[in-house]
Amino acid sequence: MTENVVRETRSGNEPGSCSGTEIRRVIRRIVRRVVDGLPLITTIGKARRARLETQHIRDKYLSMMVSCLTGTIYEDPPLKVLGQERFDATLREHGWDWPSHAHTMIGTKRLNNLRMLIEDVIRNEVPGDLIETGVWRGGACILMRAVLFAYGIKTRRVWIADSFEGLPRPNAARYPADEHDTFYTYEDLSVSMEEVKRNFEKYSLFDGQLVFLKGWFKDTLPTADMDSLAVLRLDGDMYESTMLALESLYAKVSVGGYIIIDDYHVVKGCKMAVDEFLAKSKIVPQFREIDGVGVYWQKSEVGTPRKEWPADRGS
Ligand SMILES: C[S@@+](CC[C@H](N)C(=O)[O-])C[C@H]1O[C@@H](n2cnc3c(N)ncnc32)[C@H](O)[C@@H]1O
Repeated sequence: MTENVVRETRSGNEPGSCSGTEIRRVIRRIVRRVVDGLPLITTIGKARRARLETQHIRDKYLSMMVSCLTGTIYEDPPLKVLGQERFDATLREHGWDWPSHAHTMIGTKRLNNLRMLIEDVIRNEVPGDLIETGVWRGGACILMRAVLFAYGIKTRRVWIADSFEGLPRPNAARYPADEHDTFYTYEDLSVSMEEVKRNFEKYSLFDGQLVFLKGWFKDTLPTADMDSLAVLRLDGDMYESTMLALESLYAKVSVGGYIIIDDYHVVKGCKMAVDEFLAKSKIVPQFREIDGVGVYWQKSEVGTPRKEWPADRGS
């Protein structure tokens, strides 16, 4: 613009001289151009402000969801089954107790990790649905649906796989690692599908983007007919439940998608199943810690570019 002004100012005059009228005309032109450009600048500014505002509202909504789903917001006391009686913020943060009424037992850090990974697959357009195998009252799946809702995603589904009657008796002949497992005796771990559906309804998140896979994993997971998965979250505790989920679903995880193992550091059978599956599949993933209990990794292919590594919210 400066060059134009100089050129226009000089045109029709002796070099270095110009009349007052000429100068005023040029100034008027410059002012008009600046004013014409203003709506564009204002529009860009408004769009940026609207984007930030939307992100702020999303953050508030999803943080509130995490607080409600863990029972942190109303200091929901734990079930007595694990020996604890009073609400303890640190236990709830790490998912070390089972809440009396709240809808998940995985704690704030693992829920935030789940949110972060879903946001990452959305940002990087990693194709596929989301699934949790082992849902209890449904809280982690409710958060999955809430993240899709917050980002206006209508093309991905949330798969909700559970017996809805607790854990299976150990099948020691087939899975010796489960021989002494007693999880099946815990009545608190048995939550009906109707109750889980009602829990979704409480957050206005019960809709056609949910797929319920009711039954034992051995019967449901091998034939689950999703095309691909962007997030595979395993929380079935036992060797059998973990191994079946990996054998049935790992191949469906898209490159760039994530595998989350809820109990890797606290349930021996779960860790054994993961380690054995990876060894026999010759996969050497880069494990990332969440909260000292759960781990996750990203399915990769050599040379797969990614936009950015998500900043850890979980730990
Ligand atoms: C620890 S709870 C899951 C907690 C849940 N992810 C949350 O957010 O609170 C384990 C769940 O896995 C289910 N489960 C474990 N093994 C299973 C199997 N082989 N088949 C079907 N359901 C199973 C149980 O019914 C139970 O609901």
